[in-house]
Amino acid sequence: MGDKPVAAAGTFGLGGELTVYRLGFGAMRITGEGIWGPPADRDQALRVLRRAVELGVNLIDTADSYGPEVSEELIAEALHPYPDGLVIATKGGLVRPGPGKWERDGRPEHLREACEGSLRRLRLDRIDLYQLHAPDDKVPFEDSVGTLAELREQGKVRLVGLSNVSVEQLNRALEIVPIATVQNRYNLTDRANEDVLDACEQRGIGFIPWFPLATGALARPGGPLEQIAERRGARPSQIALAWLLARSPVMLPIPGTGSVEHLEENCAAAAIELDPEEVELLGRVAA
Ligand SMILES: NC(=O)c1ccc[n+]([C@@H]2O[C@H](COP(=O)([O-])OP(=O)(O)OC[C@H]3O[C@@H](n4cnc5c(N)ncnc54)[C@H](OP(=O)(O)O)[C@@H]3O)[C@@H](O)[C@H]2O)c1
Repeated sequence: MGDKPVAAAGTFGLGGELTVYRLGFGAMRITGEGIWGPPADRDQALRVLRRAVELGVNLIDTADSYGPEVSEELIAEALHPYPDGLVIATKGGLVRPGPGKWERDGRPEHLREACEGSLRRLRLDRIDLYQLHAPDDKVPFEDSVGTLAELREQGKVRLVGLSNVSVEQLNRALEIVPIATVQNRYNLTDRANEDVLDACEQRGIGFIPWFPLATGALARPGGPLEQIAERRGARPSQIALAWLLARSPVMLPIPGTGSVEHLEENCAAAAIELDPEEVELLGRVAA
């Protein structure tokens, strides 16, 4: 896996069977405004995806609801036939009534149909990692997770993941099917899901922090993030990613962007190894 910038982040074995570099790419931002419709610059979106793979990214996160359908279609257009070892992680369980609007649908019939749609758009016989986008409180959680387990038994899905779940929900899902990853909101300034991260770390489950670049007030001029960034000739957003990578060996950040320049900057963060004191300082001031 040699001379690729993201290789510096090290690897993680998803479900103990698919090895990926720990710094991936989130393909939500390659759609239109409000994660709706086609991107303003389609060629640029295709370039971003191809450049991600050139930089070594082999974990791309998407969902049927991004666009909807647009993100998955662009991934297939840019990258199919897929290079060996590329893991495309998609999700089902959210529907889109309009721009910026998201609704949950965890009914088994919806999830089965959503998975078929993702297989078709991604031009795959089997999805490497299929994630329940969010629990739907109108549907028993066991029914939604059970449907993903069935899809796995049928060979349509290789590994099952969850998103936006609590530790209690993770434990209930583990009674039904092995869980390879959990994708919850987590970043330097929003650590509400610390308990879920710890549960994942204890069980060797990959933790995919969404909104990884948020730095909020920490990035203020003269603040600790800027000081560390300046000292290392890096951008505060790169330090935020480096902190996530240092926080846990199961952490798999998937920063998202529609810009090649930002992508390159984010991937370069894989090589930034923070000192234990910097990790501790950032963790403390942000907590
Ligand atoms: N499971 C869920 O419920 C859920 C929810 C949200 C997101 N996600 C997943 O998580 C991924 C990441 O989340 P996210 O997109 O919300 O947050 P993010 O990756 O932390 O931030 C993306 C935002 O930061 C900007 N950005 C990216 N790189 C930058 C850089 N180097 N310098 C300056 N600005 C930069 C992007 O704009 P530009 O395009 O202009 O670079 C975009 O506005 C998504 O792509 C998606 O796959 C999952």
